Amino acid sequence: MTETTPPDHCPTTLQQDVDLGGLNTLAIPARARYLARVTCVDELQALLQWRRQYECEQQRELPLLILGGGSNLVLSSDFPGLVISMGILGREVLGEDESSVLLRAGGGENWHQWVQYCVESGYFGLENLGLIPGTVGAAPIQNIGAYGVELESCFESLTAVEVSSGRVVTFDGSACRFGYRDSVFKQELRDQFIITSVTLRLHRNPDVRADYPALQQYLSELGAGQPSPQQLFEAVCAIRSSKLPDPAQVPNAGSFFKNPLVSSEQFEQLREEYTDIVGYPQSGGQVKLAAGWLIDRAGWKGHSEDGVGVHDKQALVLVNPGHASGSRLLQLAQRIRDDIRQRFGVELEIEPRVYAY
Ligand code: FAD
Ligand code: EPU
Repeated sequence: MTETTPPDHCPTTLQQDVDLGGLNTLAIPARARYLARVTCVDELQALLQWRRQYECEQQRELPLLILGGGSNLVLSSDFPGLVISMGILGREVLGEDESSVLLRAGGGENWHQWVQYCVESGYFGLENLGLIPGTVGAAPIQNIGAYGVELESCFESLTAVEVSSGRVVTFDGSACRFGYRDSVFKQELRDQFIITSVTLRLHRNPDVRADYPALQQYLSELGAGQPSPQQLFEAVCAIRSSKLPDPAQVPNAGSFFKNPLVSSEQFEQLREEYTDIVGYPQSGGQVKLAAGWLIDRAGWKGHSEDGVGVHDKQALVLVNPGHASGSRLLQLAQRIRDDIRQRFGVELEIEPRVYAY
């Protein structure tokens, strides 16, 4: 990695030709043309202004990648543009009443540490989302979810800087159009806003949600009748640690595919042949299939080839122990998708964002 004098009056330290291998949890060894870390909104706005000027002078686009913890992206080639590493920190209690508290965190805060802080402070609602890697600013992008809870359940608003203008915009929950692993920022507004802070409304009294089957089972084995929020948080962390690989040991990006939605008719047909298939009925009559079960049943669990593979405890997680290229990993993903389509007639959609240039 080299650090140079910023070209064309860039307002913040700009690094050139940067290895992103240590900055994405799949350890994909791609390089970025430029990388800059921002620690406040002013810096971000000035950097975006510099990019606009650069594009004008050079008469070509400088692609943009906003980087949090790098735990939900696949770099399928080098990145020929500007990577902005989100480093805006800060935690603030904005207000409290008898039952709830309004809290704001900077987009660059570590998500798990934020959850831990909230649980320890007696602000409840995020316990089920413990140990999810990444940053606060990335959490709304795919409306992170785990163990029966999604971010949207306690989301109040976020602030974001518009890439094209630099203006600061506030989005409430309905403007974010949250869905399962989805939001407006993955759809119409993709790459148009940089999230700088997130405001949540949490409970001051325990609001324990322990219905998720694996969580229920774990807690009952523990003999925890009515678990405290702290116990719930610890249970979630323990379950996750037992089946999801730690990216520091085995590079991965969590679930590589979304759990697919099928019609109840298709689910019943599948169940006739595969009596133990796992599906969760959704409102509106569809059924969400456990993609991990499909991949496992198809025999891919523990599979490995050329440095990439399928985790041996959770078939929905692709791993990259050999620090192979993104395109190598995507080849494996494509073979799995083809196989699942052929066997079950089900289309799998990749969950992390794929960058291809
Ligand atoms: P990055 O990977 O850096 O970025 C992801 C995308 O969001 C990119 O397109 C990026 O440009 C964009 N982005 C990031 N920050 C901003 C910002 N401030 N403004 C605008 N755009 C931004 N996810 C779940 O939902 N549930 C889970 O249970 C879960 N478990 C996981 C377990 C493991 C072991 C791993 C490795 C991942 C898991 N994930 C899970 C996925 C991932 O942790 C989340 O999606 C997380 O929110 C990504 O955060 P990040 O900061 O690493 O985002
Ligand atoms: N299963 C298998 N074999 C496997 C994996 C799973 O049979 O190899 C079965 C399990 O036995 C279970 C079902 O599939 O009956 C669901 O498995 P699990 O509870 O592990 O959850 P998941 O559906 O595989 C989802 C999320 C995770 C989240 C967990 C817990 C998606 C795409 N993934 O996984 O999120 O942590 O539920 O809520 O929705 C992520 O998004 O990166 C992620 C890790």
